[in-house]
Amino acid sequence: MANKKRMLGLIGFVGAGALALGLAGCAGGGNGDTDSGDTGGDDLTTVGFVAVGPEGGWRDANEQAIKDAFTQDAGFDLKYAPAASPTDQKSQLDAFATFVNDEVDVILLTATEASGWEDSLELAQEAEIPVILLDRGVDASDELYVTRIAPDNVNVAGTVGEWAVESFPEGANYFTLEGVPGLSVVNERNEGFEAVIEGKDGWNKIGAQTANWTADEGKSVIETVLRENPDLQFIFAQNDEMGIGAAAAVTAAGLTPGTDVKIATIDGTTPALEALAAGELSFVAQYNPFFGDLAVQAVNDALAGDDVEKTIIVEGETFNSPEAAQAAIEEGKGF
Ligand code: AHR
Repeated sequence: MANKKRMLGLIGFVGAGALALGLAGCAGGGNGDTDSGDTGGDDLTTVGFVAVGPEGGWRDANEQAIKDAFTQDAGFDLKYAPAASPTDQKSQLDAFATFVNDEVDVILLTATEASGWEDSLELAQEAEIPVILLDRGVDASDELYVTRIAPDNVNVAGTVGEWAVESFPEGANYFTLEGVPGLSVVNERNEGFEAVIEGKDGWNKIGAQTANWTADEGKSVIETVLRENPDLQFIFAQNDEMGIGAAAAVTAAGLTPGTDVKIATIDGTTPALEALAAGELSFVAQYNPFFGDLAVQAVNDALAGDDVEKTIIVEGETFNSPEAAQAAIEEGKGF
């Protein structure tokens, strides 16, 4: 497929549209054979996926959705490159550079941190390899990538804020458990939640601290917070695992989660829905991980030379009661 892309580069705009459409026919599951220039055959579109790797329930569901969408039957050769650890950007930068060197047709990127991607993205652009961001944004010009596909973190966190304001009409003493520092989604979720709380009477932010997306750290952070702030009323946990850990800390302190301290989370994994059904969590906002089909469409459109929206929003829903959580579990909405 690399030759196809090179042909695109050589032909320029006039022929690119037609050629791109022809190539796209191959890229979108046709059987193009770039070596002979024929269409038909078993040529696949090579996709380099610079991924996060094992991190938690949401990540597992999202990366599986990508693998399920970019199959050989769909015309793709997906090369999966998980990071050495969820915070190891160097392994991602190395994988990205290898994909550029190998002349893959397109790169999918879920960044372990927002900064530090300019040079890599410029290399891909010089090599005429389109880059599509999945889930997380990067601190780089949007001219360096085709699109970002993700739920709207500001809006999702805003639904948490709206639920919190409705649940605490007099305001509340609250604490925020943040994901891994330096991530776009962490900043966007703070922005969305705080925008709703801002200016509302009675809202007192005790503090915020990262628990690195994990239940263990969520529990240990909240154990300390509760010792120092027995009047804590509400916890905004930026993902399910940290919220479930926070609920364990509340219980360990001899308090009742959902009554003494309410906890709201983002993601919508099955363990979170089960905790909501049990009353340990009070609100769960889904951060819909299932956007493999949207990613395939964006890849095919990009390779065909078609316009692609700079931001592709993935819709989700919220769950605000044990009954809603139980219904969601029974309907298979968990993951
Ligand atoms: O980037 C999405 C976030 O990363 C999810 O909300 C969290 O669970 C994951 O670790």
